[in-house]
Amino acid sequence: MAALALPLAVVGLGVPEQPAAASDNGLSVRPAMGWSSWSFVRRWPTEAKLKAQADALVSSGLKDHGYVYINLDDFYQKCDSNGFVVDQYGRWAVDEAKFPSGIKALADYIHSKGLKFGFYVTPGIAKNAVTRNTPIEGTSYRAKDIADTSKQEKNYNCKNMYYIDYSKPGSQEFVNSWARQFASWGVDYLKIDGVGSHDIPDVRAWDKALRATGRPINYALSNNLAIADAPTWRQLANSWRTQGDVECYCGPGPNGSGFPLTDWAHITSRFNSAANWQQYAGPGGWNDLDSLEIGNGDQVGLTADQRRSHLTLWAMAASPLLLGTDLTALTATDKAMLTNDRLIAVNQDGVAARRISNSGGRQVFSKREANGDYIVALFNTNTSGNQTVGVNWSQVGFSGAAEVTDLWSGASAGTVTGSYSAALRPGETRLIRATPQSGNTVRHEAENASYTVGSTIDSNHGGFSGTGFVNTPNAAGAHVEWTVESATAREAALTLRYANGTTAGRPMDVSVNGVVVSAGRAFDGTGAWTTWADSTLTVPLKAGSNTVRVTATTANGAPNLDYLDRG
Ligand code: GCU
Ligand code: CA
Repeated sequence: MAALALPLAVVGLGVPEQPAAASDNGLSVRPAMGWSSWSFVRRWPTEAKLKAQADALVSSGLKDHGYVYINLDDFYQKCDSNGFVVDQYGRWAVDEAKFPSGIKALADYIHSKGLKFGFYVTPGIAKNAVTRNTPIEGTSYRAKDIADTSKQEKNYNCKNMYYIDYSKPGSQEFVNSWARQFASWGVDYLKIDGVGSHDIPDVRAWDKALRATGRPINYALSNNLAIADAPTWRQLANSWRTQGDVECYCGPGPNGSGFPLTDWAHITSRFNSAANWQQYAGPGGWNDLDSLEIGNGDQVGLTADQRRSHLTLWAMAASPLLLGTDLTALTATDKAMLTNDRLIAVNQDGVAARRISNSGGRQVFSKREANGDYIVALFNTNTSGNQTVGVNWSQVGFSGAAEVTDLWSGASAGTVTGSYSAALRPGETRLIRATPQSGNTVRHEAENASYTVGSTIDSNHGGFSGTGFVNTPNAAGAHVEWTVESATAREAALTLRYANGTTAGRPMDVSVNGVVVSAGRAFDGTGAWTTWADSTLTVPLKAGSNTVRVTATTANGAPNLDYLDRG
């Protein structure tokens, strides 16, 4: 083994090891869809307004396309000069002027329409609870036993939220009592806002508390979460906001409320986070790009082209689709966008797209769906000038010809060979589904496969394809596993591209669907870590998904692995 001491900056690209598993709370197997009160209703939510939005979600037909959450955001609570007014157990009191029938009645109404109810909280414990030293429900502890009054949490409303000291007995019980109250009201989704990396103890406590209620509650973190802690967010929650608010706060009302709700700069700034956070999204945990500001025409602050790009990016990124607009005043154009089932299917396919090019306002994202189709989104994010945006099928991950469908219009673009391009107006997008013709070679980059924990995705030895190669720990048993599709049961050629900069062999077993098809296959020295070689073998594939795994059989470990091509 070549023990090279490389500067950190060139050793690691992306994650140091395979990301931690997604939350196992069983929720949000697909990104949530619905509506949130923040963008349009802002600081004045009421029972009547929430009911009207719920009614509109149903009567507009949006519910039938999968939009089911009605999420009540901040400003349902009551403040006095010391912060939040609290109930007898130190939890936020609801403002009865805004919600005269209480939250449970609102949730019941929402449920009666076949919808789900989302709610809102922030970390910590209110100053008024500490001042009154309220008891913690079901325990002999009190607020003063658990509060750390030396620090205040971030809060956007009544403020005056002290930190909770989670080393103190009663702290988890306090959060449990709050979660139990929410569950008893019928909460189906909880956004915990104002969360930073210093709040990881709160995020854990709320995760435990929500699970302890026994009620399925989709758990969402907000906002502008640190990417360095992505493995933690992913393990604990079902979604996490990758950036600050999508709202421009540039409307004429108080707090910048009213139309416009957003602007193009607040949309284009999300392309980078969609690309950077891509690897963390998957069933059970999603990168939340924030509310979808579509529904009310151009007055939201975006042209129709820009709104289609907005929805296309959210669909490609598999972001939750939580509308921020006024559902009681949907325009026909926007309703057609939101109910385009081809777009919704791209959002709900369980895959977050990676960015494959980004230059001069021309951006291309692509993803491969479970059935082997590729979805490709081309964007011109500039504000002036038409541009031709193109992509080679090899960048997308296959070669040869594909049947192409335009997903916005549904029109077939016929058989397209080698590459695809579109002339786009400023702000315009093109979204296509490409179904490679059978017999095409399909490339599976090792960096998108699953691999032994402790492996790194490196880019320090050139000549690789994609964004890097997998460097596994040098030990027997080190492995990389790909999922490979085949339309029919057949014999297929597999090509493994690898580099071995040592002079010692690094044999591996190649197995297909758990059966070793080539035992101790030789992966000898290639002369240098930058010299890549192909090892091709013919293997039996079944129709549908197949797993192909390579496993090091000696303590030399595996060579560096670049990709697997399926012929
Ligand atoms: C070097 C080389 C790595 C390789 C490793 C190994 O550190 O830079 O890319 O994986 O040797 O011996 O496996
Ligand atoms: Ca290695």
